[in-house]
Amino acid sequence: MPQDIDKAAERLVKANYVIALTGAGISVESGIRPFRGPGGLWTEYGEPPMDGYQRFLADPKGHWEQRIKRVGYAKELYETIEKAKPNPAHHALAELERIGVLKYLITQNVDNLHLAAGSEKVAQIHGNMLKMRCIKCGSRYEQEEISLETLPPTCPKCGGIIKGDGVMFGEPIPLDVLEVCEREMDRSEGMICVGTSAFVYPAAGFPREIKRRGGFLIEVDPRETELTPLCDISLRGKAAEIVPQLVSKLRDILKSK
Ligand code: APR
Repeated sequence: MPQDIDKAAERLVKANYVIALTGAGISVESGIRPFRGPGGLWTEYGEPPMDGYQRFLADPKGHWEQRIKRVGYAKELYETIEKAKPNPAHHALAELERIGVLKYLITQNVDNLHLAAGSEKVAQIHGNMLKMRCIKCGSRYEQEEISLETLPPTCPKCGGIIKGDGVMFGEPIPLDVLEVCEREMDRSEGMICVGTSAFVYPAAGFPREIKRRGGFLIEVDPRETELTPLCDISLRGKAAEIVPQLVSKLRDILKSK
């Protein structure tokens, strides 16, 4: 493995424009379970209905009453996210941005941990569970800015219905975020994928598109994923162990230049 980390670090140093795609696996060492595979939330509770958003639109008040009660997987997800702290993998990617190697980071995670670790160029393609969003004007709010006295809560700006910023199954990805993701994908000659099963689209399409255009892929995951056959380098292990090693190797290479 060490030689693969060396190879990956060399590849990243040589590249001009690299971005990252992260999934639930990067936050496992922060106490948040993944969704699929061993110990996954969906593995235990079953995947949520694919028409979650349509159900929300049909009864937003009912949805909010359920959300406030916190039942099933939502209870665990909220509680683990609210007390989670960034781990060494989040911090290592923030450093990779600071030293100018990582140009952007697309995360499927709704846990806010990349921002908490100091990453700035972050696109949260599935939203942020600690925020709220108006489904009419798209404005986003901190939770404490929205009163839950009347349900469903409404937007202070346009009166539209407010929902959690997390993107539900069946909900279109907010355009402002999707445009950033597609712009960054277009600019990239390589991508490092950390802790994602690369199963859910459109995010899962980004590494495939970069590869299709002749770019390179590096993955960090303890297990094989749907992306493995496409990857130039696969680093097998836990993100919190592997990503810091990769960044420290990369720093050595940059120092020796
Ligand atoms: N370090 C790195 N990777 C890990 C670790 C770890 N410690 N533990 C597990 N993994 C890997 C798993 O092997 C798996 O490949 O992380 C991946 C997690 O995959 P999923 O649970 O499918 O999560 P993700 O790819 O982020 O799911 C995408 O699906 O349910 C929706 O909206 C949800 O954003 C989510 C999307």
